Amino acid sequence: MGHLDCETVLDAFGGTGAVAYAFKCAGKTVTYNDVLAFNHQIGVALIENAERTLSADVAAAVGKRVRGRDYPSFIADTFDGIYFTPLEDAWLDIAVTNVRHLDNPYERAIAWFAICQAALAKRPYNLFHRRNLYMRTADVPRSFGNKATWERPFGEHFASAVREANAAVLDNGRPCRALCGDVMSIEPGHDLVYIDTPYVRQSGTGVDYRDFYHFLEGMLHYERWHEMVDRSSRHLRLSREPNVWTRADTCRPAFRDLFDRFRASTLVVSYRSDGVPSIDELRTWLRDVKRRVDVVENVAYQYALSKNRTSREVLVIAT
Ligand SMILES: C[S@@+](CC[C@H](N)C(=O)[O-])C[C@H]1O[C@@H](n2cnc3c(N)ncnc32)[C@H](O)[C@@H]1O
Repeated sequence: MGHLDCETVLDAFGGTGAVAYAFKCAGKTVTYNDVLAFNHQIGVALIENAERTLSADVAAAVGKRVRGRDYPSFIADTFDGIYFTPLEDAWLDIAVTNVRHLDNPYERAIAWFAICQAALAKRPYNLFHRRNLYMRTADVPRSFGNKATWERPFGEHFASAVREANAAVLDNGRPCRALCGDVMSIEPGHDLVYIDTPYVRQSGTGVDYRDFYHFLEGMLHYERWHEMVDRSSRHLRLSREPNVWTRADTCRPAFRDLFDRFRASTLVVSYRSDGVPSIDELRTWLRDVKRRVDVVENVAYQYALSKNRTSREVLVIAT
């Protein structure tokens, strides 16, 4: 994207922050956004934060009780036997409480990032979509090496994620920031808007990130997590919230509204060749608001765990 002329960039569906971070490294004034609170913390830690790191001492104290501090046991009480062992649940209850007490928002964000990375590393499939702790604990012959990663203590995963985040903290001399909201609540005005929405399959259903990562989102809302849990679901996900980007019937009008809202910006849409809407539809709607539309296709590649060999990554660039 080096040839696209821009100074200010909005990564509207920021996720892991990888794209926003690349723009930050390229010297742009970057706004990161994501609707999920745990993702937003990545944006605060690595996009908005220009200089603050989390010291090894503070990081080492995150998993330890502070005398006189009250430690709720919501995770241990609620998720017993579902995602982590009892000792690991207890570590999380302590770490979450300690992180909530950190005063500096950037140190706190690095700590949230590291807790979430640690929790993901210790999960089969790196997801929270099933109560499948048994996959870790079953005494069976294994042909792959994930067991060692799953059994590595939370404190070790946490410390190495802190080191990685610290090493990535960067001042590019521009005022970058991180937002946490629905994409349609963001004020237009950026030179370039990068649009990487959840992927909706031909079947009409899409990737619901809040569902896959409900446990991480719950940790960010620790005090009211108990009100958010759907007790009727076997794996105690969060009660569902409507999201237009996860269904075929609602994402089509949503794309059109989004293109219209940010019509004054260069629009870069990342999508897959076999999704809903089709690349042709996206191209047509972009032509309604922009003068020139180019389509760049990547070579076909397969996501881990996916059986789909024909899906291609596509960038639709409207200037
Ligand atoms: C395909 S992922 C983005 C991946 C990202 N480009 C990366 O490099 O990691 C889509 C993201 O959109 C976020 N999202 C879903 N609905 C949203 C909404 N209404 N407004 C803003 N972000 C949303 C999800 O939380 C998810 O992180």
